[in-house]
Parts: sequence; C-alpha cells; structure tokens
Amino acid sequence: MSDSPMAAPPNSSPPRPPASGLGAWLDQRTGWKQLLHEFLDERIPGGARWSYVFGSGLLFILLSQVVTGIFLALYYVPSADHAHTTVAYLVKVVTDGAFLRSLHAYGASIMVILLVIHMTQTFLFGSYKAGRELLWVAGCVLFALVLGMAFTGYLLPWDERSYFATAVGTNILSEVPLVGQWLKLVLRGGPDMGTLTVSRFFVAHVFLIPAALLLFVGLHLFLFRKAGPAGPPSGDAAELRRRAQTFYPRQLLMDAVMALLLIVILAALAHFRPVSLGPEANPADTQFIPRPDWYYRPVFQWLKYWEGPLSVVGILVIPGVLGGLLVLLPFYDRRAERRPGKRPVATGLFSVVLAGLVALGAISYYADYHDPAIAAQLRRQDEAERRFMEQPFEPEAQAPAAAPAAEAANPLVEQGRQIFTAQGCVACHGEGGAGTALAVKLTGIGQKLPPDELARLIRHPNARMTAGGMPPFPLADDQMKALIAYLDSLH
Ligand code: HEC
Repeated sequence: MSDSPMAAPPNSSPPRPPASGLGAWLDQRTGWKQLLHEFLDERIPGGARWSYVFGSGLLFILLSQVVTGIFLALYYVPSADHAHTTVAYLVKVVTDGAFLRSLHAYGASIMVILLVIHMTQTFLFGSYKAGRELLWVAGCVLFALVLGMAFTGYLLPWDERSYFATAVGTNILSEVPLVGQWLKLVLRGGPDMGTLTVSRFFVAHVFLIPAALLLFVGLHLFLFRKAGPAGPPSGDAAELRRRAQTFYPRQLLMDAVMALLLIVILAALAHFRPVSLGPEANPADTQFIPRPDWYYRPVFQWLKYWEGPLSVVGILVIPGVLGGLLVLLPFYDRRAERRPGKRPVATGLFSVVLAGLVALGAISYYADYHDPAIAAQLRRQDEAERRFMEQPFEPEAQAPAAAPAAEAANPLVEQGRQIFTAQGCVACHGEGGAGTALAVKLTGIGQKLPPDELARLIRHPNARMTAGGMPPFPLADDQMKALIAYLDSLH
C-alpha cells in the first residue's frame, strides 16, 4: 500500500498515483472503477449458467419498452376524440410506425412470459430462501406492476377491441364489495368511459406505474446484490464456492446472448405479424364481443364461474388468498431445503395452480371457437379490423362546428337524423353513419346511390345486408324522405 502513514510526507494529503487522463480524473471524482468492479466481479456460486438469463432478459425488455414507449408517446394524444386517429396515423403513415408499435405490444407479452418463467424458476429452485424474503416480495410487486402496465396500455389505442375489453375489466372491479363502485369511478373518471378514462390510463401508464416500476426494479436489484446470487438448488456448498465464477465475462456473455435472442424474436414478430388496429371505439355498438389479451384470459374465464351472490368468493377471496400465500411464501416456508424434488408440497401446489391457469386460458379459447354464434361474431370483428387496416389513413373531419349548424338549418335533415337514431341504424352504422365493426359507413352514400334506390334498399335489404343482420325498415314515405335527406347530408 503506497499510502501507509510512514511513507506520507508531513503536512500533505496521502499521495495518490498521479492522475493522468480523463478516466483517472473521472474515477477520482466518481469512483466508477470501484462500481464497475462491484458490478462485474460479483461471484456466482457454482459458476455462470444459461438458466440465470431470465432476470436480465426482463431488464432488457423493460428497457426496450421504455425506448419504444417514448417513440409512441411522440405521436399519441390521450383523448377520446384523438387517441384512435393518432394511433392510426402512426400505424398507417409514419415510417416504421406499425413496426415500432408492434415491438411495444409484443414486448408486453414477452415480458409476461419471462416473468412467469423467472418466478417459476425462483419458486422451484427455492431461491427465495435464506434471507431473500424481501427480494421475493419486491419481485411480486413488480409482477403486479407489470400486469397493471398491460391493463392500462391496452386501452390507449381506443379501438373497439381495447375499449370493450377495458369496459369489461373496469366493470369486474366494480364487483369488489364496498369499494368496487368507487374504484370503477376513479379508474374511469366517471360512470362512463371517455376522455377522462383515456387520460387517467395514460397518466398511470406513462408516469405513475413506470415510476413505481423503476423504484422496485432498483430495490429488487439492490436486494439481489445484497443477498448475492442463490446459485443452483443442490450441490455441496464448499464445492459450489470452489467452482464460483465472476459475473464477467461468462454470465455477462450469456445475458448478452439472451438479449440478442429477444431482439431477434421481437423484430421477427413485429415485422412478419404486425399488431393490427381496429376501427375506432363505438360505445353504441351492442354486438361487439370483448376479449382480453391472452395473459388475462385465465382470469377472464375464471370470473365466468363466479356470477351472482358467490362472486365475491371468486373475485376477491380465492385470488386474495392465493396472492397472499404467494407473496408471503418465504415467511412461512422456512426450511433450508431448496431442491424441488424434496419439496413435494410446494412443487405440487405450484404446478397445480400454474396448470389451472393454463387450462382456464385454453377453455376460454376452446369455448369461443366452438360456439358458432360467438365464433361468427369474432370472425366479423377480425374481418372489420382487417378492413380497417387496409383503408388509407383518414384525417379527422375538419371544422366539426360547421356540421350541426348546417343540420339545424335544414329541419328535414334534422328529422332524418332523429329517425336514424330512433330506428337503431346508429347501432350498426355508427354515429353520423361513420361505420362500425358491424356495418359499413354510410358517409357519401348519397353520391353513390340515387334516392329511390336507397329507399328500396332500406325497405328491402339485399342479401349482403340481410346476412349482416340488417332488417327491412318499412318506413312511411315522409319518414323515408327525411331519412334520405339525412343520409344525403353525410359526407
Ligand atoms: C343490425 C345491423 C344494421 C342495422 C340496424 C342497419 N343496418 Fe344498414 N347495413 C347493415 C349491413 C351489415 C350492411 C351491408 C354491409 C356490407 O355491404 O358489407 C348494411 C348496408 C346498408 C346500406 C347499403 C350501404 C352500401 O354502401 O351499399 C344502406 C344504405 C343502409 N345499410 C342503411 C341503413 C339504414 C338507413 C338503417 C336504419 C333505418 C340501417 N341501415 C340499419 C347492417 C345494419
């Protein structure tokens, strides 16, 4: 040691090696060499392994979500009027916008998959034991936060799919006893879903939950470093210590390979199967069958079995007990044994719950495809989504203030508009005849068909219209005249 007191000249600070260069200067001020040493030279009992890559894979996907999310936010406007248009613009007009959005959407799914693998592994290898209780609890909180990110992000495109899935999701919350109604109001920003809902979900998705995520990721990593890697579940402790390796280079290389693999998978999915956007949400659409994304399917199916007075058991009691058991696991499972084979109860229970979730998801998909009415409607919805994606981008109609004025100026048109609503045309053709997943838009129909032809079609729909569920409307002549005047006014 050069800075022993003997060697130090009197009245001077301990001598240091002469600092030269930027690296040394920075090191004196920040101590980064020590930090890097601590980061890279962490000792892993038993050596580097491929099975340890999932945690760092999660960290990598999180980073990717942040980066792609920032790009999406550059285009997104969180309001019920503009959200869908801005996403449509991103997907249809912006170069590589669809690719970017798909990276983000698939990233969410991959994150859930990696989380399940990471937690399963931690559970089976007993890595939550031996002083790692808080590490496990922080991990459980992270899991809940990621599910919250998935729930809040799903609504943002404001298409039919996302709108109705979220309507169901927030309705389910209202079943929670005592606070349910209040919870639903807080989430939606009112009894119905609208701009306040989009705004709240947006704030949760880009500010609140990410802040909590960052905090808990930091905590999780800190606790992990504090406790050190758990190493393999079996083996002689002395032998594992002897075979220990530092994180750098082998484990770092394996983690880098994992990151590369994730990049390839994500890019391939986003390129070959870009995520589609459906028609804009139409709250008046009564036919739409909502379905959540795949990772919420098991929950969705589970809740179907718990309607009526017992619902509180299925919605709150059983999930609460299971969740509590999971989070508190390291506090009651205090045996030192880590080998999965020697912990039959733990391993068995975990497998049963996991298999149950997979089975519930599978039943949900199976039921959909084997109910002809549902299957047909789901196909129509997919078809509407495909059609919407094929249409060129349509900017929002300019100067909407002019339209009501023109209508009001013409009482016949206004009367027609009321008939359009009263007869239920709105339910299928949408507000202002803008079209929905169920039926084509009627804007510009006046230029396409002459009035008598239109009247004939409305009184006697053709085969295509009948197939789509449009009934004949035997309207009186003066009513028909008003309705057609209204249809004519739709541009
Ligand atoms: C149950 C749903 C439903 C209702 C209610 C409904 N329609 Fe339709 N309508 C359809 C479907 C489906 C089509 C055919 C779409 C297609 O060709 O793909 C259609 C087609 C039409 C067309 C022809 C569009 C074209 O471009 O060829 C007109 C006009 C029309 N509807 C007017 C009306 C009017 C006016 C009302 C109310 C009096 C009404 N519809 C109510 C489902 C409905």
